[in-house]
Amino acid sequence: MNGVTVINHPLVQHKLTIMRDKHTSTAGFRRLLREISTLLCYEVTRDLEMTTTTIETPITEMEAPTLAGKKLVFASVLRAGNGLLEGMLDLVPAARVAHIGLYRDPKTLQAVEYYFKAPDSLDERLTIVVDPMLATANSAIAAVERLKERGAKDIRFLCLLAAPEGIANFQGAHPDVPIFTASIDKQLNEKGYIVPGLGDAGDRMYGTK
Ligand code: PRP
Ligand code: URA
Repeated sequence: MNGVTVINHPLVQHKLTIMRDKHTSTAGFRRLLREISTLLCYEVTRDLEMTTTTIETPITEMEAPTLAGKKLVFASVLRAGNGLLEGMLDLVPAARVAHIGLYRDPKTLQAVEYYFKAPDSLDERLTIVVDPMLATANSAIAAVERLKERGAKDIRFLCLLAAPEGIANFQGAHPDVPIFTASIDKQLNEKGYIVPGLGDAGDRMYGTK
């Protein structure tokens, strides 16, 4: 699908299956989400721009590869985005972090914002928005809108599961933002949940209902 990268690495798919299983505990779900996020991070950063720097190894001087440009921004859509954020920061500890507090109104399925905090110079950085679930995409669309208002221009969206309806909505609103996901599921149900999905990601991470 245009603009969508499905990360179907065997380790990602294996861990995702355990996460989907309703018998997996809260602790297990959280641990797997952190593990899987490092694998997803690896893929979403695969084509980052590089430069070189001069270093001295114990043997000789060399021009060695290093990341170019300003530090990355990981933008976590609260709450569940934080589960992906942790593993991403394990791999890129110098990244800056934006927090976007949104919840989905259960009746209207519209995203309601309650918090926003982002680093400066977003216009000069690559911003990777992280949220495990792209369902209707109302939350993702709102999160990206806010980041664009603050100047972000180079944005990627990373999730675990995406519904076809959410992908279509998101691409309608933000055709310039590529989507990275571990799975494109079948559909949304009448309550806006992803089918087969994994349930409510935030509730499964934190043991709430
Ligand atoms: C979940 C999920 C996304 C959103 C996806 O968050 O983490 O942010 O729903 O649904 P959408 O694509 O239809 O907008 P939720 O609103 O349940 O908040 P929480 O993470 O605080 O539990
Ligand atoms: N949010 C979730 O956490 N799960 C879904 O299936 C849809 C939205």
